[in-house]
Amino acid sequence: MSTPTRIAKLTLDDKTYDVPVMSPTAGPDVLDIRKLYAQADVFTFDPGFTSTASCESTITYIDGDKGELLYRGYPIEQLAEQSHHLEVCYLLLYGELPTAAQLQDFENRVTRHTMVHEQMHNFFRGFRRDAHPMATMVGVVGAMSAFYHDSTDVNDPWHREVSAIRMIAKIPTIAAMAYKYSIGQPFVYPKNELSYSANFLRMCFAVPAEDYVVNPILEKAMDRIMMLHADHEQNASTSTVRLAGSSGANPFACIAAGIACLWGPAHGGANQACLEMLREIGTVDRIPEFIARAKDKNDPFRLMGFGHRVYKNFDPRAKVMKESADEVLNLLGIHDNETLKVAKELERIALEDPYFVEKKLYPNVDFYSGIILEAMGFPTSMFTPIFALSRAVGWIAQWKEMISDPAGKIGRPRQLYIGAAARDYTPVSAR
Ligand code: ACO
Repeated sequence: MSTPTRIAKLTLDDKTYDVPVMSPTAGPDVLDIRKLYAQADVFTFDPGFTSTASCESTITYIDGDKGELLYRGYPIEQLAEQSHHLEVCYLLLYGELPTAAQLQDFENRVTRHTMVHEQMHNFFRGFRRDAHPMATMVGVVGAMSAFYHDSTDVNDPWHREVSAIRMIAKIPTIAAMAYKYSIGQPFVYPKNELSYSANFLRMCFAVPAEDYVVNPILEKAMDRIMMLHADHEQNASTSTVRLAGSSGANPFACIAAGIACLWGPAHGGANQACLEMLREIGTVDRIPEFIARAKDKNDPFRLMGFGHRVYKNFDPRAKVMKESADEVLNLLGIHDNETLKVAKELERIALEDPYFVEKKLYPNVDFYSGIILEAMGFPTSMFTPIFALSRAVGWIAQWKEMISDPAGKIGRPRQLYIGAAARDYTPVSAR
């Protein structure tokens, strides 16, 4: 628990109040206003939480001005280059890089939980075939609490641990099943000899009639997508998981809530929206028309895959993702694809355009991830489910941190009420 490093003074009318200031390991100082309402009878107003720290956390740190992202202190570029997703999962969950023995034990535990309860196959069959895989995932992940209720006691550390492993192990299986179901193919069971990312690719692309041999470059690219999306501070979906969990709800239900939040086009849904936008633009000569629309205040259109609430320099994940995109496209011999040409030209124009430069709108991670996923053979509807399965570890790590925080309370924001003041009811005959 942080202790105040100095005191700020707030003067309101003729009274002055002490507001403790807390200093983080990195980032701006934080005003502790927890006692403000009790002392001064005022709330603070911060729609969209642009200036509000909602919790203490030790997991992820972003410096938006420097374009820096750290998982437990380690720069994302180093992890993307030298680590792999399951090691990053261990790091995010337990706070330190594992020893070789710890890593092996963790990998064994995750690998031995990749299958889902056979009854879940029937549960899937209740969905319409044409359901969006995100809709299916929200439902199936939420339903995990019905299938795995022996690990839903949030006050039991062992239950929390088992749920975390189950979540990380089973979510790729669930995402792959959602995909297979949507295209009318049989589910493919996980294969434990494969890596986490190769296993996911195989569950998506193998069929009983023909196995799928995973190319190591695609395996590495998928692993990187997972690592780069693994956690991202108190973003909308993570805050949703924490808020849902603050009431004591079980982790599967909380993560289903996070998946629902992630689905929106301003958040995880942006990778699907971005590729659809690139296709809608269609040819390079139409780019100026779309740039003009993005700048027009009266047009709700935004350039998908551009801009970020926190990154105001560049998104470090986008840099790594761009390298991966080049590797994958080279491997697959995709050079003259029209969508890719539009993406490259759009990026070039937007980076030079004063509107985007002044507003610090840079390509974000979603701008490039969709290009890679499309090249791998995924339909756009699978882009956000892949984001969700990658983020599962971040959500569960943040949920665990929240549950074990002694200062934790149910999340319950207040409001600036601007509706009618108290008034008397009039019967309908008198209105
Ligand atoms: N295209 C055009 N203009 C934009 C864009 C964009 N993509 N993003 C922001 N702007 C403009 C806004 O119109 C606003 O202009 P104004 O100051 O003249 O009113 C200004 O830039 C600031 O934008 P805000 O919406 O206030 O910034 P906020 O931090 O709330 O939004 C967000 C960030 C939601 C990511 C936004 O940039 C956006 O909608 N981007 C497109 C969707 C997207 O790619 N989302 C993925 C985010 S990354 C992730 O979830 C993994």
